[in-house]
Amino acid sequence: MKNDCQKDEWGTRCWFETLADQFDKKNLVSYFNHATKGYEIYRRHKVIELLRDNIDLVPGVTILDVGSAMGEMSNAVCSLYPQATVVGIDFISSLIKLASTMHRQPAFLVAALPHTPFKRQTFDLILALEVLYYLGDEDRIKAWHNLCGLLKPGGKLVFTSFLDNGKRYFSRESAINLVAGILEIERIFFDYNRVFNFFSRQLERIIRLKDSIDSNQSLDPQRISPIFRAIFMVTKIPVIGTGLRLGLAILSKAAQYCLGLEWLPRILSIISGKLSKSKNITNIAIIAHKNK
Ligand SMILES: C[S@@+](CC[C@H](N)C(=O)[O-])C[C@H]1O[C@@H](n2cnc3c(N)ncnc32)[C@H](O)[C@@H]1O
Repeated sequence: MKNDCQKDEWGTRCWFETLADQFDKKNLVSYFNHATKGYEIYRRHKVIELLRDNIDLVPGVTILDVGSAMGEMSNAVCSLYPQATVVGIDFISSLIKLASTMHRQPAFLVAALPHTPFKRQTFDLILALEVLYYLGDEDRIKAWHNLCGLLKPGGKLVFTSFLDNGKRYFSRESAINLVAGILEIERIFFDYNRVFNFFSRQLERIIRLKDSIDSNQSLDPQRISPIFRAIFMVTKIPVIGTGLRLGLAILSKAAQYCLGLEWLPRILSIISGKLSKSKNITNIAIIAHKNK
């Protein structure tokens, strides 16, 4: 099972716990800063637009948000469907505590996929957004069966995933096959963030470099390119180093500002999609339902 406690292994429970411990609401490089990161705001708005345009819910329905993190998405869903009961689950208890403190509206519970603590046919709508790829192959299938079992007949599910041809995340085909294995697909959407992702990675590198220099940490070679490592060495030289640090501090502020802009990923996604849909595709969203 991929939820073993391996702090350095991508997607494990301990990996997420470390990221949650490092949460810093003032730093947009902080992984769980979903509230103010421009890309996260853009992604949240896109999900809300997709729900508003495609899913009509009657008052009194129940909604499950799987992998709710800081609860930003669950909270936005509460605002969209004020007469629904919304529940968010996540396997990191510190995130559940934070989410419950930050948002009064949805209920948040600790639960680790592939298992779920609910009775079959409990929910009218389930959101499985950017979460299932963290599970190993077997657990992904198990979790998918369990989640679909929680849907009422006629209930809807929204699935989103980053796409990387199945290296870590899903491929377009594996995402569609997973969903179509049990549910009836209604609509599929794509997003084109390749240019934005490249740009934001460079901005994050600048901020990380500045933070490392400030805290005098040694740099993580996997995260910093040789050029950035060289800059780090130069900052140790008197006078030149001071000027460079000042320049880096200004650049880092500008980078933080850019990472907070919601319109930047929105515009770059439109441009990337127009340039080449097939080359720049990075994300999939699927709306599906369970037959009555
Ligand atoms: C990338 S975040 C996505 C958050 C949210 N769904 C969204 O779209 O904004 C992934 C979340 O899934 C949670 N997660 C990962 N594996 C999980 C598992 N096996 N069980 C429950 N939660 C899990 C993580 O703790 C993290 O909060």
